[in-house]
Amino acid sequence: MPRLFDAEAFKKRLNEDADRVTGALDDLLPAQHGPEKKLMQAVRYVALLGGKRVRPFLTLHTASLFGVDPGCAMRAAAAIEMVHCYSLVHDDLPAMDDDDLRRGQPTCHIQFDEATAILAGDTLLTQAFEVLAEADTHQDPAVRIELVKALAQSSGAKGMVGGQMMDLVAPEHEFEISEIARLQRMKTGALIDFACMSGAILGKASKSARQHIHGFSHDLGLAFQIADDLLDVLGTEEEVGKRTGKDQEQGKATFVSLMGVDGAREQALRLRDQAIEHLVSFEEKADHLRDMAHFVVNRVS
Ligand code: IPE
Ligand code: IPE
Ligand code: MG
Ligand code: MG
Ligand code: MG
Repeated sequence: MPRLFDAEAFKKRLNEDADRVTGALDDLLPAQHGPEKKLMQAVRYVALLGGKRVRPFLTLHTASLFGVDPGCAMRAAAAIEMVHCYSLVHDDLPAMDDDDLRRGQPTCHIQFDEATAILAGDTLLTQAFEVLAEADTHQDPAVRIELVKALAQSSGAKGMVGGQMMDLVAPEHEFEISEIARLQRMKTGALIDFACMSGAILGKASKSARQHIHGFSHDLGLAFQIADDLLDVLGTEEEVGKRTGKDQEQGKATFVSLMGVDGAREQALRLRDQAIEHLVSFEEKADHLRDMAHFVVNRVS
């Protein structure tokens, strides 16, 4: 019998994990003194206030499938959230999406200034690699190198940053659905893939287990961005904590712009089911990941 998704119980679980992630980020991103202190003020503003912490959740619960030490998993989870937060700060800059609201608060460049926001993003990106490279993340240096390489690949030109470039040039092109899928898998899917794969890397998971996890994250990442695009059309600014209606205004290429709301929603649901199918071999141990797949397409923020 298919498992029922208990949205309330899941939200509670996600929030509890989110609080622990915020605690870890608080420890890893200490305040600074001296004339440069504004930098870490901005970093802490960005990293400690709000956010669903979806990517850390994926790391923590993938890692637990492979018996990874929870402290090690939390460090990798914090590192991925740092990269995610950096991507949001730069995404919101006037040169990119030009947004003034994020996680229900003024965006970093509004609260501070543009130069500080750029540097805060740079700090979060570089700090993530420092965390992964430190011995506390895994006793085996080969595992740490694998994590560093995988995060670099998923956040770089073939991953998130490349996807952001496609997103920016989209208004000058008429992308087909396959190209939009590629764009979204790069700009959003790649980091979600790393979030999941980092748990498998830390746990030295077998090749076949890694393939299953990768299959899951590949579908989940695209479903996640389609849900984000749907929220831009259907969500309220109060609930999503960011400006809505912007994708159409800025001529962004999304599943919604090409397939309409209903078509995009159906696609997201198909991807959710496909994602869950990849988890069969993990049996009930993967229930938290299954729940996340349901959450991703049902979310209102
Ligand atoms: C928003 O990500 C940006 C995208 C990649 C779609 P989230 O919806 O995970 O944002 P937070 O972290 O919860 O604020
Ligand atoms: C951003 O996509 C993806 C990132 C890599 C940050 P969006 O531009 O749609 O994200 P939001 O809607 O501003 O959170
Ligand atoms: Mg954007
Ligand atoms: Mg944006
Ligand atoms: Mg969006």
